[in-house]
Amino acid sequence: MTNENQLHTATKHAGGMRSFKWYCKIFSIVFLYLSLAIVASIYCLPAVKKQHFKGRIERSLAQMYDKDDLGASALFAGNFINLGFWDLPIHKGKISICERIESERNLYRLVGKKLELDGSERVLDVGCGEGVGCALMLQEFSLKEIHGIDLSLAQISRAERINAVSMQKNRGRIFFKKGAAENIPYEPCSFEKIFSINAAQHFESLEKFAKEASRTLKPKGKVVIAALFGTSEKSQQLLAKNILTIKNGIDKTPTVCKFEEILKRNGFCHVKIESIGKNVWQGFDRWVAQGSLKDSWTRNWYKEYRNGLLDYYIVSAEKRE
Ligand SMILES: C[S@@+](CC[C@H](N)C(=O)[O-])C[C@H]1O[C@@H](n2cnc3c(N)ncnc32)[C@H](O)[C@@H]1O
Repeated sequence: MTNENQLHTATKHAGGMRSFKWYCKIFSIVFLYLSLAIVASIYCLPAVKKQHFKGRIERSLAQMYDKDDLGASALFAGNFINLGFWDLPIHKGKISICERIESERNLYRLVGKKLELDGSERVLDVGCGEGVGCALMLQEFSLKEIHGIDLSLAQISRAERINAVSMQKNRGRIFFKKGAAENIPYEPCSFEKIFSINAAQHFESLEKFAKEASRTLKPKGKVVIAALFGTSEKSQQLLAKNILTIKNGIDKTPTVCKFEEILKRNGFCHVKIESIGKNVWQGFDRWVAQGSLKDSWTRNWYKEYRNGLLDYYIVSAEKRE
């Protein structure tokens, strides 16, 4: 082989090596970008999706309570928005609108009794809706002040309008304010008693609610919640098949035992759980069956209660000293 040939081969070899190095560089850059994209999609996509889902739930909740005046709808009536506590046995005939409203008032009365009020207490209703329950508590129970908070400003405006007479008569004893269960707009140790009726199923975080209830209650203060909960870990997933508000995330159904754990790790003790489902679901379903929603998914609440997937509870607990 001549020197010239050797030089040519060496140059060719060196050129090949250079291209090879370039290929390696390009390959490592592409590989790095691909790996970063995969890692980002694994870690960030669920968070983005969750944020999107949360935004959608907030919009649905706003639509439900800001825009639509549910308290004036035939399903609820009387400016209350709860399933009701029905006296048993429920008579066979048609349920009157007065009886329906009375069932909703009775759920407030039941919680009022559990609160064990003595006349000296400042009390908070979380998710007060249109505030008629706060006015009832003030009228029928012995308490110093009642404060109602609600996530929806429209509900607070309705509460102030509907209860204008009661607010005038009881000046300085009944108040309404926009505020979330997860961020209660009051100073620490503001209340002796806190309650919530038919609202906890909407709370974005029961953990944050429990923390806030603990912060704003005085030591030995009491919290009482009336709400629906799932009966097993699988409830939420199974209920989502037949109940629209669970499917779209407006209602959440963790188990009541999970809520008990949440209360205990946020400074509460003496947690008591009472199932009141038998006085809630059948009566509510009888009422739904009389109206325009008789053929809708709303009937599935009672079906799923009978299937053992959910129940309605009164949960009470005391803040540790
Ligand atoms: C079904 S209504 C119950 C109203 C009232 N307690 C009653 O029984 O008539 C539920 C209420 O909870 C409010 N709400 C939902 N999520 C909330 C939250 N995170 N904090 C405070 N209020 C909330 C809604 O705006 C709505 O007015």
